[in-house]
Amino acid sequence: MAIIVKDGCFKLDTKNTTYAFHITKFGFLMHTHYGAKVSDVNLDYVFPLVRNRSYINSPAEDTGMVLNLTDAPQEYSGFGVGDFRTTALRIRHNDGSRAADLRYCDYEIIDGVVQPEKLPCATLNDAQNVQTLKITLKDSATDVYVNMYYTVYEDTDVITRFNEIINKGNTPVYVEKAASLQLDLFNRDYDLVQFEGRWAQERHMKRAPLASGTQGFVSRRGTSSHNHSPFFCLCEHSATETAGGVYGFHLVYSGNHRTEVEVAQFDNPRVLMGINDEGFCWKLDGAEKFTTPQAFMTYSADGFGAMSRNLHKFIREQIFRPKWKGVRRPLLINNWEATYFDFDQQKLIDLATTAGKLGIELLVMDDGWFGHREDDKTSLGDWVPYKKRLPAGLKPLAEGINNAGLKFGIWMEPEMISEDSDLYKAHPDWVLEIPGRGRSIGRNQYVLNLVNDEVKEYVVGAIFGVLESANIEYLKWDMNRHLTEVYSATLSADSQGEAYHRYVLAVYEILDRVITKFPNLLIEHCSGGGGRFDTGMLYYSPQIWTSDDTDAIERLDIQHGTSFGFPITSMGSHVSAVPNHQSGRVTSMSMRANVAYSGTFGYELDINKLTDEEREMIKAQTAFYKENYDIINNGDYFRFAKNDHFVSWGFATPDRKEMLIFFVQLEGGPNGSDAFVKLNCADNAVCYKDIESGKTYYGDTLKNIGLCFPLTQGERKAYCKHFKAE
Ligand code: GLA
Repeated sequence: MAIIVKDGCFKLDTKNTTYAFHITKFGFLMHTHYGAKVSDVNLDYVFPLVRNRSYINSPAEDTGMVLNLTDAPQEYSGFGVGDFRTTALRIRHNDGSRAADLRYCDYEIIDGVVQPEKLPCATLNDAQNVQTLKITLKDSATDVYVNMYYTVYEDTDVITRFNEIINKGNTPVYVEKAASLQLDLFNRDYDLVQFEGRWAQERHMKRAPLASGTQGFVSRRGTSSHNHSPFFCLCEHSATETAGGVYGFHLVYSGNHRTEVEVAQFDNPRVLMGINDEGFCWKLDGAEKFTTPQAFMTYSADGFGAMSRNLHKFIREQIFRPKWKGVRRPLLINNWEATYFDFDQQKLIDLATTAGKLGIELLVMDDGWFGHREDDKTSLGDWVPYKKRLPAGLKPLAEGINNAGLKFGIWMEPEMISEDSDLYKAHPDWVLEIPGRGRSIGRNQYVLNLVNDEVKEYVVGAIFGVLESANIEYLKWDMNRHLTEVYSATLSADSQGEAYHRYVLAVYEILDRVITKFPNLLIEHCSGGGGRFDTGMLYYSPQIWTSDDTDAIERLDIQHGTSFGFPITSMGSHVSAVPNHQSGRVTSMSMRANVAYSGTFGYELDINKLTDEEREMIKAQTAFYKENYDIINNGDYFRFAKNDHFVSWGFATPDRKEMLIFFVQLEGGPNGSDAFVKLNCADNAVCYKDIESGKTYYGDTLKNIGLCFPLTQGERKAYCKHFKAE
């Protein structure tokens, strides 16, 4: 039983973790534990000081108002009634007051999952032992209720959460903040691990001890952003890849988000994660409800590696649509860095013809095929083929590509509009803007106001039109600028605070309708590279272009950081030309492939300009990737080492009978030395054979002494070692 309720105590157990809270004297919910599994159901006795300080020595005890709420570990805190920390819920009532005094009402245990309406979320895709706990709280002075849903995935050590705020009164209330997840901890002995970045340098790992006060990160860009995906970890100071307590938290959301960790006066941290409340305000008339995005969390007592593997498995199995669970996706070539805007039908067919001979399975036609798009200044919104490049439209192109033995994929940026477009001429008012203000322009384009249903329907129609016009099996959905002047004339003045979130809901609705109508379509998401790399998007598209930076060395940081929270199979990762277009760096073809293999592998260069020898290498690479698809995409992932001299990572099958190990030397020295990489994925009892050399190793040797790689003169060498049980 995943959920145990006894004497007002709630205990949520997964295979290795326990999450616990209970109802206190005045009806508050006190959080008691999240971490490694414990057997006690009632944990109140463990916290005498916290309990006394918060609940008993209250001058206002008789009235039930608790002034020291600010020190109490709570499940879901309300603003304005004595908790002076950052709180999960801020409600403005019709009289202008802001208060939410949340007391326990009721609970229900539901078998299976409960999903937030109209939002991406985890599913029950073949999962066993899944139960949901619904807890209802009520504001003591009004008819505002909060339903909290905890779904416990016992086998994968993950708990999902979301909340509904319901106004059962007769007058409107305004939800100004509603976190998806709150977690109150008891001491500050943790590091905050976040993944910060910018365009072309997404998700670089940063680790720092918690300090007094508030730390965290936000997005105000209308998307989850290059700066911070809504994912982070908290870990014990001593935690490593293989040992120590580590929490991982995800928000299943693609818009403005906020993560706060406030270390309060008694060193007690509070974690909040949810929609960013800046610019947010959701009006609830009587009988209406607001549903927060879903968040999910895991805990591992065995370090970052196990924490990541929990999340990888969970995302692959429960966030990806069942259609893509464990399914092999095509190895692709994208023409963006191969041609940019300089292409036509014949060039793409020539590319596909060569690609087919090299084992590539899909050609993705990128930007420039529509309207009269010569560069990035025009035509967004006009989703009709550009006559100059595709004189007979998409159909003969798709046929040409299919005849070369490849699937055909197409790029669109459906949320955008160029000033130089027929769409803009017809509907200049469809742009996101605030009347009386200038419109900010980004990459020469504006954002369509998807909050307006008419605009949304146009976008749906445009996408359907394109996808119906030819045999298109893959859509690269791009989004290349952020939201500014967020306002919609379709909303009343007191509902403008809903515009950011309604925009995201519209994107989700469009994606949902596209997938429903074209169930076999594979969508790759993209936002100037990895600017919307989040589990909200992964619900619709099981792969996301990780970064516009395709340089193998830069990718080591980006893919390393991304791997903490996201499965390898979600990361678009291509071999591109040298000198690299973003960094100017030259790396070998083998190095580029050895880095790009750890993702949804593909190519993004003009293979017709390569030497025969290079093309032979590609043939061998595509064969290698196909042969090892399963272990890379569905196997267990391990980070072995990352330092100034080398980086090493790898994969193992769940039964540990097979391992694929990668090693990149970053710099060499005059003397040379040996680098030992301890393969903690090895099974002690197994004798492994290096497929290439035939040499055999015992698992405990590889695990405890390590596999030796040479650090030699010269820079940047990459190796891949493949082991199979003898
Ligand atoms: C963005 C994407 C690229 C490419 C270009 C096309 O930058 O991240 O991969 O599609 O747009 O304009």
